[in-house]
Amino acid sequence: MDVAGRVVLPGFVDSHTHLVHAASRAEEYELKTQGASYEEIARKGGGIRNSAEKLRAATGQELKRRARMALEVFAAHGTTTIEAKSGYGLDVASELKILSLHKELSAEQPIEIASTFLGAHVVPSEFRGRPGGADEYVKLLTDWLIPEVTSNGLAEYCDVFCDRGAFSRAQSKQVLAAGAKHKLIPRLHAEQLTRTGATQLAVELGAASCDHLEHINTSDIRVLAKSKTVATLLPGCDFHLGLKQYAPARKLIEAGAIVALATDYNPGTSPTMSIPMILSLACTQLRMTPAEAVAAATINAAYSLGRHNRIGSLEVGKQADIAVFEVEDYREIPYYFGVNTCWLTIKRGQVIYAAA
Ligand code: NIG
Ligand code: FE
Repeated sequence: MDVAGRVVLPGFVDSHTHLVHAASRAEEYELKTQGASYEEIARKGGGIRNSAEKLRAATGQELKRRARMALEVFAAHGTTTIEAKSGYGLDVASELKILSLHKELSAEQPIEIASTFLGAHVVPSEFRGRPGGADEYVKLLTDWLIPEVTSNGLAEYCDVFCDRGAFSRAQSKQVLAAGAKHKLIPRLHAEQLTRTGATQLAVELGAASCDHLEHINTSDIRVLAKSKTVATLLPGCDFHLGLKQYAPARKLIEAGAIVALATDYNPGTSPTMSIPMILSLACTQLRMTPAEAVAAATINAAYSLGRHNRIGSLEVGKQADIAVFEVEDYREIPYYFGVNTCWLTIKRGQVIYAAA
């Protein structure tokens, strides 16, 4: 195939998304422009619980239509593999519905999907406001949902949102340990809003990845650098929420940690499917070089999904997952921020997107 001198990269691997949800939260976005914080909105029943209410009311077909549209947008920005988390169901039937959609979508369209169980996203409304409610919900996850998820082969990974307003370190450990007992590999939402010690827990449990990391300290950086747990940075969240404190990418890289980048595509903190936009944020806000950013969104992300032997780089013998860009120099991909320069996307040797 003659691509006439355009830039060719490995297809992007987006190792952190919340693919299946029912609707945007544009109304909360407007409240945030007027000064309301993410946590204030969440405490009042907005945020993740707002999305759970909408998801529970949606049909599988509606959810699938929305997810398929998103997958086409991912492909149009050069992404060929994503990780997708449940977590907007927060009850047995709805969480299983989301994970089953991951499986159906994997079979019905070309983007590869690595499925993650995130039942521990927040404590659902019906378990809140009564003593012991959160622990009862944790018990529902560990004793009922996790065995159900794994006996149906619906997930590879188990994730927990360990933070203020979500799950404590002890509860996170309980959920991830129950997951591991059923062969679900841990990942963790860690130190996004506050420092909870989640990063050290992730490393202790041999997690594939720990994600966000805006509030990590020097000792967390040291622990990550000595481990094989990938530090997955999600600068789209800080950008969308207008937060000033980005994760310390330079310190992580200089310490020797494995750094990946992902969109965190979700309706509350990062409504984007564009890895090129994330590369722009990585360069301007995280001070990563364009080459570091590309490696973070390809081979390092593939490593966090245990797929580095098959995808994430252009090598003889690897799968032909390829993205071609309408630029003269790969550095122009992040340089043209908010502009999609993707020209062609190929998955397993087949064209899945071509610019008009
Ligand atoms: O990765 N932090 C927790 N989960 C998502 C946000 C989910 C939401 O607000 O809907 C995140 O930022
Ligand atoms: Fe997330």
